[in-house]
Amino acid sequence: MRVAILISGGGSNMATLIDDMADGYAQPVLVLSNVDSAGGLDKARARGVPTACVDHRGKSRGEFDQEVSQVITDHAPDVICLAGFMRILTADFIARHSPILNIHPSLLPKYKGLNTHARAIEAGEVEAGCTVHQVVADLDAGPILGQARVPILAGDTAQTLAERVLVQEHILYPRVLRHYVSGERNPLFLG
Ligand code: GRF
Repeated sequence: MRVAILISGGGSNMATLIDDMADGYAQPVLVLSNVDSAGGLDKARARGVPTACVDHRGKSRGEFDQEVSQVITDHAPDVICLAGFMRILTADFIARHSPILNIHPSLLPKYKGLNTHARAIEAGEVEAGCTVHQVVADLDAGPILGQARVPILAGDTAQTLAERVLVQEHILYPRVLRHYVSGERNPLFLG
């Protein structure tokens, strides 16, 4: 199973996914970023995974997606994983390149979009977490493939909560991708 991973930043989830593929259950064939200075690109190169960068600046959403689509097609993945990828993909791209998985730092369907941890704390939630879901045209709305929960503790800031959730992301995403590649479709719930 050939896997392409799209990133925009540090790529800790991407690196964790690639490292978990070391037993050969899947092959990382591409790491693509829309940001050429993304730290994740160095992590991918250090792991010997082909990389590409398509800058989104100065392009329409359609032009950007078209360029990304060409690079994806050239690498022929069977599945795409979004991992800290901060661009919204067009419905055409999603239709053309599904299945696409994404990890989102909240317990979907709660807290779609950005600033999830600050919003959960502000709302007085007692728990938070992360969700791996299949990407559909509606943002953060596709079928849930897995979730992991963490408590929100007194005195938590968005940063302390994000750090606690990120630990669980690194456990959840590889588990869910391995589960998905094996053909399982029942969602995994951890913690
Ligand atoms: C993570 O919180 C992830 O949930 C979100 O982007 C953040 C950074 O991820 N999508 P990474 O370190 O770039 O994988």
